[in-house]
Amino acid sequence: MAVLLTVPMASADPVDDTLILNGETEMVTRTAAPDHVSDAMDEVLSGWHFRGTETRAMQADDFDNPGMIFVEKAEDTWNAVDGSEGESCASCHGASDQMAGVRPTYPKWNEEAGEVRTLEMQVNDCRTNRMGAEEWKYTGADMVNMTALLASVSRGMPVDVAIDGPAQSTWEQGKELYYTRFGQLELSCANCHEDNYGNMIRADHLSQGQINGFPVYRLKNTKLNAAHSRFKGCIRDTRAETYNPGSEEFIALELYVASRGNGLSVEGPAVRN
Ligand code: HEC
Ligand code: HEC
Repeated sequence: MAVLLTVPMASADPVDDTLILNGETEMVTRTAAPDHVSDAMDEVLSGWHFRGTETRAMQADDFDNPGMIFVEKAEDTWNAVDGSEGESCASCHGASDQMAGVRPTYPKWNEEAGEVRTLEMQVNDCRTNRMGAEEWKYTGADMVNMTALLASVSRGMPVDVAIDGPAQSTWEQGKELYYTRFGQLELSCANCHEDNYGNMIRADHLSQGQINGFPVYRLKNTKLNAAHSRFKGCIRDTRAETYNPGSEEFIALELYVASRGNGLSVEGPAVRN
């Protein structure tokens, strides 16, 4: 726990506040931990509770949320024909809000393909196999904007990924990664996000590392960031070699981390530091 021991840590409670989206939708940002994490934590909390007053306010109103500009861009893409088949997302799926309820269930087992799919994988499957279009880069702008659109139409719905049945072995792989100590600092995700959430690490207020707000608009790099980019950054901070976005390891980790937030509202695109 080198870094945590050398850095003076101060505890600061998560902010006691309620997120009401656009003055109408009350979001679940804290709730009882799902059964499979209740031995480690009583309650699960959105990263929103660990951000400052202004950052929290930006997320509460679509006019102030800079992530919504990218959602609008994705809306144009949704309606645009692309690829050899002359199709748009809309020509098969209708309006984008028809996708309400999809984000909360991903990553999800796909029976036909015999694999656990992230939303990015599913979108690329539609692009290549149904539209005859080029695959998007896993964490590229087109993809992250589209996943923000897909999240935005599910805002307020509870994260609800399945961890049993055919997804179970992937979930277990993700769990193992979550507790693996990485890098010279020998820190696991759990060392920071389970054992030390609520503490300050350098200038940062450590959250539970939940992904219900992804993709998130970060004030730091002024763009939307995919969950796998965040995983990569966090592992790099432990001075370890990391996995690539879209890798089998990160898909498994995503399923596991998502399941730790089962019951929290989908918030994407959330606003973070
Ligand atoms: C030619 C028709 C077609 C086009 C065009 C198409 N899709 Fe699909 N899409 C499908 C079908 C069929 C499924 C169900 C496939 C499955 O379950 O394997 C699907 C499934 C999905 C799902 C998962 C839905 C769920 O309930 O799990 C998402 C998300 C999705 N598509 C997004 C997109 C996006 C984004 C685009 C445009 C970039 C797009 N699709 C273009 C036919 C299409
Ligand atoms: C050295 C401590 C440390 C480790 C180890 C670490 N993180 Fe983080 N992580 C942070 C800090 C600091 C932040 C930014 C503040 C916050 O949101 O917690 C962060 C943010 C995140 C976020 C963004 C949460 C949000 O609401 O925006 C996610 C997701 C995340 N981490 C996942 C992980 C995963 C998965 C691992 C293991 C692969 C991991 N982290 C390992 C320190 C760490």
